[in-house]
Amino acid sequence: MEHINKYISENKERFIAELIELLRIPSISADPEYTKEVANCANAVAKSLTDAGADNVEVCKTAGHPIVYAEKIIDSSLPTVLIYGHYDVQPADPLELWDSGPFEPVIKKTDKHPDGAIFARGACDDKGQFYSHVKAFETMMNTGTLSCNVKFMIEGEEEVGSENLGVFVKENKERLKSDTILISDTGVISNDTPSITTGLKGLSYLEVEVTGPNRDLHSGLYGGAVANPINILCEMIASMKDKDNRITIPGFYDDVLDLSEDERADIARAPFSLDQYKKELDLSDIHGEEGFTTMERTGIRPTLDVNGIWGGYTGEGAKTVIASKAFAKISMRLVPNQSDEEITKKFTNYFKSIAPDSVRVKVRPHHGGEPYVSPTDIPAYLAASKAMETTYGKKPVPVRSGGSIPIVALFEKELEVKSILLGFGLDSDAIHSPNEHYGIFNYLKGIQTIPHFFANYVKYY
Ligand code: BES
Ligand code: MN
Ligand code: MN
Repeated sequence: MEHINKYISENKERFIAELIELLRIPSISADPEYTKEVANCANAVAKSLTDAGADNVEVCKTAGHPIVYAEKIIDSSLPTVLIYGHYDVQPADPLELWDSGPFEPVIKKTDKHPDGAIFARGACDDKGQFYSHVKAFETMMNTGTLSCNVKFMIEGEEEVGSENLGVFVKENKERLKSDTILISDTGVISNDTPSITTGLKGLSYLEVEVTGPNRDLHSGLYGGAVANPINILCEMIASMKDKDNRITIPGFYDDVLDLSEDERADIARAPFSLDQYKKELDLSDIHGEEGFTTMERTGIRPTLDVNGIWGGYTGEGAKTVIASKAFAKISMRLVPNQSDEEITKKFTNYFKSIAPDSVRVKVRPHHGGEPYVSPTDIPAYLAASKAMETTYGKKPVPVRSGGSIPIVALFEKELEVKSILLGFGLDSDAIHSPNEHYGIFNYLKGIQTIPHFFANYVKYY
């Protein structure tokens, strides 16, 4: 592994410069205005894989944004690692809250990143993380240390639900055949407390519309005499949780697996400081379901949150009006063994049932996804754990995440292969937010750790 470290340290400035170039491409999958940029980004990813030494590099067209596929098959008797990542990014707004342009990467030091961090949309989620696989692959190729076959599948629609990747996977099962799937699109507890994500939440995401009167009304002439859809929507949302912050949708918890005392003890073992948590978020108190710790609330309990709410007048000054309509976007994060389809149904029925006769409601489901759990006793997990132990000098802690990567459950179902979530970001890296960033330390640590995964996996599998 000596020569690997040497290769990385001799090339790290270039590794950083290349990532910065990739971050300049605004590959926003949600916004049709950026379709060309998304395609440009796919081409750049393909070129980087060719340059790193991959074969059969292909930019695969889909009904949406392209998927980049590449491989290096060195010996069919060796195990195959499928690398998954996404080159698309979230929209950058609100732009005014960025200290520098979201697609004009700059390196700045922060408290958490004394060696500097690259500030740009997608730096951590997921360009910096998947690109560490491209550079780790280059490193293994150029030091003659690649010990497994490797396949890359880097998609452009993760942030919008991966619908076309689902189709691609079903149509390319043979091509995607692998022994394990390795993904860096999650995080570690901190740079001196490594962790491996062992669970991802499922997701049910809906938009609701509440209609009162057939037009906007003068709030004096009609106020108090007709249903105000904004008031009603707020009441309906409020009634979806009880005083213990439990979700009141009938049957919501029916399929939730109860955790054993041992599993709860495991979760409690992961280092966590409530004081620091509150301080970082400027909170004087936390909030959540009665009877569960913060780590349990985010890791193993299902949740319901309003992601956006609008209606009526929100411009400058005051306008006295009762709006005709009110809207909200609502997400529910799901845990094993809940099904997004079931939950979407239960939500819809309940939401309609609690609407008073004075309004009409519509519920529109968006994309969803099933939860995922990774075992900690399979060769790939052990290979990842040992790899991190080597490069961080500490054994990583298994952690259930509150985030979702819906395609991972589909990989398991369609390809019958487990995924390992070997992420290197920090929760404080502001993914999906203004001033997203990724530590230089984290980027390089990823590039160092991945070759160890390969070396261990060929021994353990
Ligand atoms: N990489 C994130 C998910 C993530 C981040 C998991 C950190 C664990 C730790 C992914 O890109 C993401 O943002 N997923 C979305 C779901 C998707 C359907 C839009 C999410 O979790 O909101
Ligand atoms: Mn991601
Ligand atoms: Mn994301």
